[in-house]
Parts: sequence; structure tokens; C-alpha cells
Amino acid sequence: MKLWGGRFAKSTDKSVDDFNSSISFDSRMYKQDILGSIAHAKMLGKCGIIPEKDSELIQKTLLEILADIEKGSVEFEVDAEDIHMNIEKILISRIGDVGKRLHTGRSRNDQVALDIRMYLKDEITEIKNMLISLEKSIIELAEKHLDVIMPGYTHLQRAQPITFSHHMMAYFQMFKRDIERLEDCYKRTNVMPLGSGALAGTTYPLDRHMVAQELGFASITENSLDGVSDRDFAVELSSCLSIAMMHLSRFSEEIILWSSHEFGFVELDDAYSTGSSIMPQKKNPDVAELVRGKAGRVYGDLMALLTVMKSLPLAYNKDMQEDKEAIFDAVDTVKMCLPVFTKMIATMRIRRENMYKAAQGGFTNATDIADYLVKKGIPFRDAHEIIGKMVLYCIQNSKVIDDLTMDEFKTFSAAIEEDVYTEISLEKCVSGRNIPGGPAKESVLASIENGKKFINTL
Ligand code: ARG
Repeated sequence: MKLWGGRFAKSTDKSVDDFNSSISFDSRMYKQDILGSIAHAKMLGKCGIIPEKDSELIQKTLLEILADIEKGSVEFEVDAEDIHMNIEKILISRIGDVGKRLHTGRSRNDQVALDIRMYLKDEITEIKNMLISLEKSIIELAEKHLDVIMPGYTHLQRAQPITFSHHMMAYFQMFKRDIERLEDCYKRTNVMPLGSGALAGTTYPLDRHMVAQELGFASITENSLDGVSDRDFAVELSSCLSIAMMHLSRFSEEIILWSSHEFGFVELDDAYSTGSSIMPQKKNPDVAELVRGKAGRVYGDLMALLTVMKSLPLAYNKDMQEDKEAIFDAVDTVKMCLPVFTKMIATMRIRRENMYKAAQGGFTNATDIADYLVKKGIPFRDAHEIIGKMVLYCIQNSKVIDDLTMDEFKTFSAAIEEDVYTEISLEKCVSGRNIPGGPAKESVLASIENGKKFINTL
């Protein structure tokens, strides 16, 4: 017998039961559903809408059901459709008519809106904590490799020397913004919709603020239609997660490149890489590749959510049941990626000699030599031209600029003097960029300090 069966002369076709049912994926919200119902029942009793003793029995029984579910002794039924009706049905089966009073002044529409918000609030907090762990690992890497010089790239061509710490702290900034975005999204998720009813509120004098307080919500939704029919907080969360995955995918891509023989900048720990079933020599960066791949999956979830919600008339429509698998998948995927990614970067070995060699090899100090000439009074455009010729000469003679003799230097510009050798060293190129936000040790240390402060405020 369906909880809504009164109006129907025939029972539901089995195929419709299966099609309509969301229990296979919304059962994961059992705890939120039960806690929401307990708060609702408590408020109904307190406001005199149902007898106080009925309210107490409902609350007590719901807690027992929660314990039984956690013990694994409860089986949900497909034809009870979703988690909301499954739990209500179990409640009624245990305490009969008293249990039938729980749904007073409530609809599954505001109930499901409540459950998802509660569920996602917890997930946001969990993901935020995972991002904080990642940030801590990044800071550790940065602190350990302050003097490790590597080439910085544009167009994937060696550009200017930086340090590995500076490169790591770039990711720190990205994940910092991801954390801030999640905190912002949390604020909009932290609004309590119960009392919106099916769409038009209710005639019962519900104390919505009491329910919000019981459940730890900051405020209540201000429009009953909006309360039941928007899922923008889920779209927003999947958008925040997509951006975080985009950052993770870029980091992954670099690790994949860096661990290749061609780069040799890092070596992944054996525990965080895999072998090939045919090629005995292989050590593959599967973890980084999977994270890179899963970014696509999370983007897909965002698209699915946006498309499900597109053009839906107010208020609730059953289409919205499709929100759950997408947002759950996005959340699950990110939660799978973050811890393993964090451990992978925390255990990778940094091959500083190779980084240094690469920085030496690609004329990464060319800009600095041009700047050297500028300091000697030559206009930048002329300096650029002179150094361009110098680079060409080096390429033709298989040299790096640092190897040129003073006589060779003089053929390009009479302004070049003995101090050129120290002025264009990689160390000097880096330490000279001590502008705030730059790669010099003091600038990176300042950004590490700020980063630590940020983490401590969370
Ligand atoms: N399982 C439904 C969902 O996830 C719950 C709300 C059902 N409401 C309704 N009016 N059929 O959206």
C-alpha cells in the first residue's frame, strides 16, 4: 500500500515503480532524513500541532530506526519509492497511527530540499578539510625546496628561472580560492527550506526558526516556491568542484610531464605509481592521469545538473530527482581524488639537479641579460635585439650564454663587463625577482607565511 494510495483505484505498474524509485541512490541521505524528521516532530509537539507524547514517541522511534539502519538491519523497498517514504513507512509499521502524524505540515518537496542541503553541507565541510590537507602538503613541499631552481614555462617552452617552491605556491593560491568558493557556497546551502510545504507553505503555525536552529541552519528560505524548487546550491557546488578539479587536472598534467624521462623533474613513489602488464620497465603516473580524467566526469555532472534544471517551471517537478546522482557523483569523485593526490605529491621525490640543468639549458636568463644591458643604459628594445642575436650565436655554436668569453660578449655589446657573469646566474635571476608575488626566496617565504595564516583562520 502506497502512502499516497488513497486517490488511486489501481496499483502502480511494476515498471513504473522501478522507474520512479530513487531509493537506490537517495538512501544515502537516511541520516539527514531522520534528523530532519526528528526536528520537525519536536517542533510539531512544541507548537501543540501534535500531542507532545506522540512527538516524543516519534522522535524516539526515529532514533531507533537510525540505529537499525546503521547496524545494517533495515532493508529499503523499491516500491516505497524514496528514502523519505521508506523511513515514514518503517516508522508507521513500528508505532502505527502515531507515526502517521509525522508528515503534518510537511511535503516530500520541502523534505527532499532539506535533506540535500543537510547532506551537501556535510560534504562541503569534508571536501574543504581535504583541500586544507592538500594545502598543508603543498606548503611542506614549498618549504623544503626553497632553493630548488627550475625553469618556469610559457607555451611549454622554457621561459625564466623560478623555484620549485614558487611553482608549488601557485597551486596553493588556486586551492585557496577553491576553499573560499566552497565556504561561500556553504552559506547559500545553509538555509532551511522546511515549512515551504509542497509549494505554498502551510496553514499550520510551524516554528520554522526552531527547526532551523535544531538542525544548525543559519536562516530559513524566504519564499515557499523557491524553497522547494531551486537546486542552485547543488549547481554551485558542482561548479566549485569542477573548478577545483580543473586545478587538480593541471597539477596532474604537470606531474605526468615532470615524471617522464624527458623531463625527469620528479619521481613518484612506488606506492603511488603503477606498472605495465607487458613492458617491464614502465612506471606509470596512473593516479595523476586518473585525476586528470575524472575532471571531465565532474564537469559532466555540472552539465547534467544545469541541463536538468534548465527551463523547469516552478515549483517542484519530478525531473529534479535527477539532481542527486549528478551531485553525489561530483562529490564522491572529488573525495576520491583529493586524499590520494595529496599523498602522491607528499611522497614524490624532487630531482633538483635535473630541474637546475633544464633551467640552465633553455636560455632562461635571456631576459635578465637584456635587463642587464638596460641597467647599463641601453634601451630595452635594443637590448632585446642584442640578446636575441646572442642566443642565436649560442644555438649555432652549441653554447649557453653563461659560457661565453668576455671577448665573445663584447662582440655583441661594448656595454657588457666582467660583472655579467654574476648578474646573469640563475641564482641572481631568481633572487632579483623579489617583488611581492615573485619567485625570490623572501617573496616565496612571505607567501608561505600568508598561506599558513590563511589555513589557521579556517
Ligand atoms: N524522490 C523525490 C526527489 O528526489 C522526492 C520528492 C518527491 N516529491 C514529489 N512530489 N513526487 O525529488
